[in-house]
Amino acid sequence: MENPSILVFGKDGQVGKAFQEILGNHPQVTWIGRSECDLSHPSQIQETLEKYQPQIIFNAAAYTAVDQAEKEPELAHLINGIAPRVMADYISKQSDGFLIHYSTDYVFDGAKSTPYEETDATNPLGQYGKSKLAGELAIEKAFKDHPQTTAKYFILRTSWVYGDGANFIKTMLRLAKERTQLKVISDQWGVPTSALWLAQVGYQFTQSKAPSGIYHAITDGETSWHGLATFAIQTAFNCGVHLQAKSQAITPIPATDYPLPAPRPYNSRMSNQKLKEVLRGAELGIDFPSWQNQVEQYVRNII
Ligand SMILES: NC(=O)c1ccc[n+]([C@@H]2O[C@H](COP(=O)([O-])OP(=O)(O)OC[C@H]3O[C@@H](n4cnc5c(N)ncnc54)[C@H](OP(=O)(O)O)[C@@H]3O)[C@@H](O)[C@H]2O)c1
Repeated sequence: MENPSILVFGKDGQVGKAFQEILGNHPQVTWIGRSECDLSHPSQIQETLEKYQPQIIFNAAAYTAVDQAEKEPELAHLINGIAPRVMADYISKQSDGFLIHYSTDYVFDGAKSTPYEETDATNPLGQYGKSKLAGELAIEKAFKDHPQTTAKYFILRTSWVYGDGANFIKTMLRLAKERTQLKVISDQWGVPTSALWLAQVGYQFTQSKAPSGIYHAITDGETSWHGLATFAIQTAFNCGVHLQAKSQAITPIPATDYPLPAPRPYNSRMSNQKLKEVLRGAELGIDFPSWQNQVEQYVRNII
């Protein structure tokens, strides 16, 4: 496909801004934020797609307020569950089109003791996870309903995202400047993932021969929230940032000591083996650095 027309939903989110960084010079990109199209209105999505007629859709938009979703499950379902179906219906009718959609580790309940594979059973604990799972199933169904399609979909499940926007790392660095002691959950495990890396992975799928499906998009390694906070704060300290709380002053606590409206999985770790096989096999130059390597670069950039 030469110079395909691209449409990015969620231009102002962490992953959306990362797309702006990597596709800023692309000649044919339409950037869509909430004010151009409210994803809770399927008719607006339909109109947007008919107006711009994209061959490639990157859906980086989502209802991501995990706790608030417990109070407004219908809205979360419209944005995360219904909107992707409208996008998938449209793309599945385009010859050689692509839908790249982001999903989450929260589709799992976390009861498994090893990293989740793409084929593992889902069982979301909260409304956010349920709405994101509904989006995955809706995309799969739309493509099943068009069995002759030459278009493809890629659902990239990821976790613990950080980029240009509010995120856990920024919160920890702010708190370490304000307080002398921090308490951070140490019994929930996952993989911190860079928004920039996620946008690069999403783009690479459009250059690959990978088959449609679900892929776990995370870098290498694993840690707890406590491990991530400690590493980010130590990195900032090593760079000379003045902090009240040093990394030794971060007390590990169990998740039960920090109750939140939405339950989170204890094990959010996912295997990235399938992703490595398709992207490395295609020799597209995607690296799989350790999470520490990427978080260190990120912290150095934002301090
Ligand atoms: N953040 C994480 O830790 C995490 C973890 C796992 C998976 N994910 C998934 O990764 C993807 C990207 O996440 P992110 O961290 O980049 O999210 P984000 O920073 O919260 O950005 C989400 C974007 O969606 C937009 N949006 C929300 N409701 C909308 C609506 N009704 N109409 C139009 N746009 C709407 C928001 O618009 P406004 O800017 O106007 O609010 C925002 O720009 C999502 O699919 C998310 O589920 C994220």
